[in-house]
Amino acid sequence: MAREKWGTKLGFMLAAMGSAVGLGNIWRFSFVAGNNGGGAFLLLYLLFVLLIGVPLLLTEVSIGRKSESDVVGAFKKLAPRTPWYLTGFFGIASAFLILSFYAVVAGWAIFYLWNYINGSFFAAPEAGYEGAFGQFISHSWHPIAWTAFFMILTIIIVLSGVKKGIELANRIFMPLLAVLLIVLAFFSLSLDGAAEGMKFLFTPDWSALSNPSIYIAALGQAFFSLSLGMGAMLTYGSYLKKENKLPSATLGIGLMDTFFAIISGIVIFPAVFAFGIDPSSGPPLVFITLPSIFEQMPFGGIVGLIFFFALVLASLSSSVSILEVPTAYFMRVFNWTRFATSILMGSIMFVMGIAVSLGFGIWSGVTPIGDKGILDSMDYIASNILLPLGGLSMALLVGWFLKKSEALEATDLTNSPIGSFWHFIVKFIAPILIIIIFLNSTGIFQF
Ligand code: PHE
Ligand code: NA
Repeated sequence: MAREKWGTKLGFMLAAMGSAVGLGNIWRFSFVAGNNGGGAFLLLYLLFVLLIGVPLLLTEVSIGRKSESDVVGAFKKLAPRTPWYLTGFFGIASAFLILSFYAVVAGWAIFYLWNYINGSFFAAPEAGYEGAFGQFISHSWHPIAWTAFFMILTIIIVLSGVKKGIELANRIFMPLLAVLLIVLAFFSLSLDGAAEGMKFLFTPDWSALSNPSIYIAALGQAFFSLSLGMGAMLTYGSYLKKENKLPSATLGIGLMDTFFAIISGIVIFPAVFAFGIDPSSGPPLVFITLPSIFEQMPFGGIVGLIFFFALVLASLSSSVSILEVPTAYFMRVFNWTRFATSILMGSIMFVMGIAVSLGFGIWSGVTPIGDKGILDSMDYIASNILLPLGGLSMALLVGWFLKKSEALEATDLTNSPIGSFWHFIVKFIAPILIIIIFLNSTGIFQF
């Protein structure tokens, strides 16, 4: 059977941007920045996106396009008769871990959308937004039902094939989400106390840099937000026709994703301080902040409705790219149909998602890693460890295993200063930085 291909280069760009832009930019970016002191974190994050993220994004997509295979198959093809392909399983494992909590959080977003459709969040509920949210996520099965709903939507898109579905949704709703966020940013800036939030986000507190966990947090956020290291971008790259040019495409994806993160920060943090919310509230942060903003805004009910609709679609275009990773792998290896494979993979992730959801209710005392709950533990292993390891493996493959001329050809770069600079980053800078950050976070060695 011939492998599927994107309709157009724009189709690939939209799907890749759709994969990148999602809950990571709004929900995850805000709470990780809030937990890690704001400004200093933002600076490190931006540094890692530019220095490691964008060059590795180009690397990952080029591996996919060159090998025309999935995250495990790609290594088998490019480095035959070596155990390199085993690192592809980091990608498969992170896909399971990430989608099982991503679907839970996206389920929360659909619940919010529903509350804006029926009007019940137009004004603060009796318990306040914070109380109402707390009651909702700790309920035994309500949030699980919304997670199931989101997972079913994800499966439906993946089983109908890579190009149908994703392309259209992204073409309309990504620009809409961008416009809404800009409007919200202006509104948030007009709130009393907004200046404090801007200061939190943009004035680095240098002493925060002495805490080793901030580096791994910023690295993990760069990988998560760019959909990097899992093989999602690799798999999307494998559906590219040879004639598309990669460097400008990947730079565009990186810039777009970063724009969404910064603008969400400008929406969230002024409001966090204006409404007296704790910036380190963790995963619930945006779910408490956003409705408080909408409540104060003229026509806030309608704005909230459109916002959560766009957020759910942005989450869907990301979740689809995650489910595609194991789906592509198992389809090839076992010769299963896309239909059966996507349903099976999605169902396993849903069952894992039940545990994540219960982690906010009856299992809230379960802390697999340190004092981290179920969601935070899975997120930590996947985003801060498995994704960077996957990226490290891809960088080493392209930087050291392939010849420089092959690497340049695979990425549409030439032996120009830019091409050599990219190659130097992928061969030395990115791997060394990733290794140093790992060692630093284990305490073996400290900055
Ligand atoms: N980048 C997506 C987001 O920011 C999440 C994601 C992570 C998608 C890893 C694919 C792979 O929401
Ligand atoms: Na993102």
